[in-house]
Amino acid sequence: MHPFTIKYQPKTTNEIIGQDLAIKKLKDFVINFKKQKKNAVLLYGPPGTGKTISAYVIANELDLEILEMNASDIRNANQINSLLGSAISQMSLFSKGKLILVDEIDGLSGTKDRGGLLAITKLIEKTSFPIILTIQNPWDYKFNKLKRKTEMIEFSPLDYLPIFEILKKICDKEKIMYEENVLKGLARRAGNDARSAINDLQTLTIEAKELTKKSLEDLGERNKLESMPTALTKIFKTTDPKIAITAFDTVNEDLNEQLLWIDENLPKEYTKPEDLAKAYDKLSKADVFNRRIRRWQHWRFLIYINALITAGIAVSKEERYKHFVQYKPTGRLLKLWWAKQKSMKKKAIAQKLAEKTHSSIKETLKDTLPYLQATFKKNKDFREKLTEELDLSREEVMWLRK
Ligand SMILES: Nc1ncnc2c1ncn2[C@@H]1O[C@H](COP(=O)(O)OP(=O)(O)O)[C@@H](O)[C@H]1O
Ligand SMILES: [Mg+2]
Repeated sequence: MHPFTIKYQPKTTNEIIGQDLAIKKLKDFVINFKKQKKNAVLLYGPPGTGKTISAYVIANELDLEILEMNASDIRNANQINSLLGSAISQMSLFSKGKLILVDEIDGLSGTKDRGGLLAITKLIEKTSFPIILTIQNPWDYKFNKLKRKTEMIEFSPLDYLPIFEILKKICDKEKIMYEENVLKGLARRAGNDARSAINDLQTLTIEAKELTKKSLEDLGERNKLESMPTALTKIFKTTDPKIAITAFDTVNEDLNEQLLWIDENLPKEYTKPEDLAKAYDKLSKADVFNRRIRRWQHWRFLIYINALITAGIAVSKEERYKHFVQYKPTGRLLKLWWAKQKSMKKKAIAQKLAEKTHSSIKETLKDTLPYLQATFKKNKDFREKLTEELDLSREEVMWLRK
């Protein structure tokens, strides 16, 4: 399936909505590159506001060839030098002029060991082509030096009206029926991000080419379910560990569910075997840690698992996949998982009981629990007392009563 974000990506600067000033500055910079004081521009602003697409569209309009260097690929100065060197040496082979794009530099490190930022700074000093850098958040002090060498151009957060305009055009071309206020609602939900608004539109109209009030309501109710795909997008579609690590911050589902969602959707997203192998290595480590932490109750280590399954998986790919995957809840493993959950419930109860009775979990599981369960089922008074005494959860009570 073609993602709408690709199918309807702007081909000319006119089609880039709500960024007129930025586009003008950028075009100006490229056209008058020889007269500029600085060799690079830094396009900054939130995701889905048109930074990357602007570089491509302007290159296209000015008939320039884009050399894209993914910031995450840049591991050391040598690599940049060889890339740049080959670009310069190829100059005579092509009649087209060139434009260098280094996209999403947020994750680059300024320290000597990795040296990505230093390398870019050098690249800016040496280049004979205009350089466009993009970044979400340029305010980290590590970018100070770089900022002095670039002209900064802001891509402002998109208001809902320009997003609405973008969505409307797509609906017309796709012959999607919509009510105006529903489409506006969809635009509002996206919070400044045209890309996610377009993806929402595609998701909601996969089955029927109609956008109703109900579909928007369903979307609201599905919010909980939906927070997971959003979190996965954050992990899968970035190579920047700093962005990825926040993915689950606003997600309510617990760690087990997070692991299952990743397990289910990872192979659809990472199609290169090397990427997939690296990512699964992280995931299986997380799974092992998860079980150990639960067994030993070292809860404070959970934070390392989060790092593994967010940042760890994000950096397991060489570069971002451009295809559109609709992330789905897991089907295959759910039964297995529920079975595991049940046995975990049993263990959790036994554990509480063992603490109170000063006996081992093993003994409790074998001797005490079956007897206790029988009484628990029959005797209401006992049930209430024990529930309070052991501070049993609703699920645990239900498990004991079944
Ligand atoms: N200002 C805009 N006008 C029209 N479409 C946009 C705009 N911003 C983003 N889009 C849509 O979202 C997609 C992603 O935009 P992109 O340039 O990659 O965003 P960024 O690099 O700022 O994260 C584009 O392909 C386009 O379909
Ligand atoms: Mg971008």
